[in-house]
Amino acid sequence: MKFVIRFLLILIFIFTVQSEALLAQTGWAKSYENAVVVTAEKHASQVGKRILQQGGNAVDAAVAVQFALAVTEPRAGNIGGGGFMVLRMDDGTTNALDFRERAPEQATKDMFIKDGEYKPDLSRRSALASGVPGVVDGMIKALERYGNLPLETVIEPAIQLAREGYKLTWLQAQDLNDKAEEFKQYRSSRRYFTKRDKTPYQEGDLFVQKDLAKTLERISRMGRDGFYSGLTADRIVNTMEEFGGIISYSDLKNYESKWRDPVKTSFKDYDLYIMPPPSSGSIAIAQMLTSLENYDLKELGFNSAKYVHLVTEVMRRAFADRAHFLGDPDFVRIPQSGLLDSAYNHDRMQSFRWDTVTSSNSISHGDPLKYQESNETTQYSIVDKNGNAVAVTTTLNGSFGNKIAVDGAGFLLNNEMDDFTAQPGEPNMFGLIQGKANSVAPKKRMLSSMSPTIVTKNDSTRMVLGAAGGPRIITATFQSFLNRVVFGMDPQQANSAPRFHHQWMPDKLYYEEFGLSPDTREKLKEKGHKLNPYGNIGRTHNIYIDNNGLKYGSPDPRGDGAAEGY
Ligand code: GLY
Repeated sequence: MKFVIRFLLILIFIFTVQSEALLAQTGWAKSYENAVVVTAEKHASQVGKRILQQGGNAVDAAVAVQFALAVTEPRAGNIGGGGFMVLRMDDGTTNALDFRERAPEQATKDMFIKDGEYKPDLSRRSALASGVPGVVDGMIKALERYGNLPLETVIEPAIQLAREGYKLTWLQAQDLNDKAEEFKQYRSSRRYFTKRDKTPYQEGDLFVQKDLAKTLERISRMGRDGFYSGLTADRIVNTMEEFGGIISYSDLKNYESKWRDPVKTSFKDYDLYIMPPPSSGSIAIAQMLTSLENYDLKELGFNSAKYVHLVTEVMRRAFADRAHFLGDPDFVRIPQSGLLDSAYNHDRMQSFRWDTVTSSNSISHGDPLKYQESNETTQYSIVDKNGNAVAVTTTLNGSFGNKIAVDGAGFLLNNEMDDFTAQPGEPNMFGLIQGKANSVAPKKRMLSSMSPTIVTKNDSTRMVLGAAGGPRIITATFQSFLNRVVFGMDPQQANSAPRFHHQWMPDKLYYEEFGLSPDTREKLKEKGHKLNPYGNIGRTHNIYIDNNGLKYGSPDPRGDGAAEGY
């Protein structure tokens, strides 16, 4: 008997220790009194925390995290791609930085059409797929305007991680192994991202990136010139020439990130500041919230058939407008105030019926001028001890971009050109049908779904939100917000609760497999929804701040995310 009890106690002990290890790995929410950093990867979160403890503010930490993610999350964290930053400083000022890639100067509207046919491989898996990278310019610009620390200090932890290496998690090893066949097509990518002995990566393998460390050192020493001219530029242009790409010295020299005004929208007692176009997320989230403002969502119940039906119809309408109206605001006139107008969005819901769907074929964009007054990204969120808040989403577009590493420089290039409309009516890699407003033109930025967002209540920051996941970024960010504000979910639930997604075309209601009960699915089918189970709908890495100022770092358990703070 004694033996049995002792055996049971040992089992309970092992189970408890393992569960704790599991919790630590899957990154459940943690609360901190002073400052918090949430990213998709634990080393990057630790780097952010260290910079904050060295006297850096949230912007210093964000820049350090971006460079660290370029080392520890090569799938999406990067220096060969672009992204968006939204910030709110302790004096209440808000700002948004657009460091999205731009089309090269030699890009043309029909560059992905050959013999009259759209060639998706060109916009996704070729050197032509790369836009001019914006990350390095963006990080330096953010640091110069808002940071406290020098570039060399914030980039140093990334250099160390690249030079000395870090141990791969199971997920990181799988991600690299999944793409091994594609990496093998390019000498540089094979060298950097597959093992010399040709065996697959294992959890715990030390991953060292010496050439990337040298590129980061050049950026540290020379700033912008360490990337956009000199040796790194030579290596980018050589890679382009070798594989038929068109990014030139002139593209690199002329690349500029841009400060823009965030889009502000309100819902209940909350104000949201979201990345403006060329992000489509701001307009879409604002439209969806405005369309829902007269409905009692709480009464409908979380993920009930009625709730999912209503919210899906709202998503459908917002994404139909996205397809038609949105593009780079430096190139196309976006009827922004009309799209954000309450009457416009309520009018769009006139065709909504509780008992049936409005099919996507029967619905198109609206007429906002009438109301006009005039699979892969990464999100990180930071709040420092003074209350400065930063939300950043950054990407190479596809997982590991176009899989082409710059030879001798150690980093991957993006395949962001696929976010343009290659041909009206043809879906991009996310199935999005887009319009002329988003067609390719030299120096134009491709439309994005990345939606970094800061939420305030009574003028104090209450949430820092955003997600990875192509168009699902928009709907995941939107649902995290609704989960917290409408249903009062705690910081962990708000991120981990099952999500759904509709993007107008294809006319499918995507849902996380175990997120809707069988009878809910039945009811939705009866109304005419075409249900499609889907793996993970977005990965959110959010911060929620409670009434007492306690900061909850809430990584998404759908990935390797981690919160760090003090
Ligand atoms: N590359 C995905 C996005 O920007 O929406």
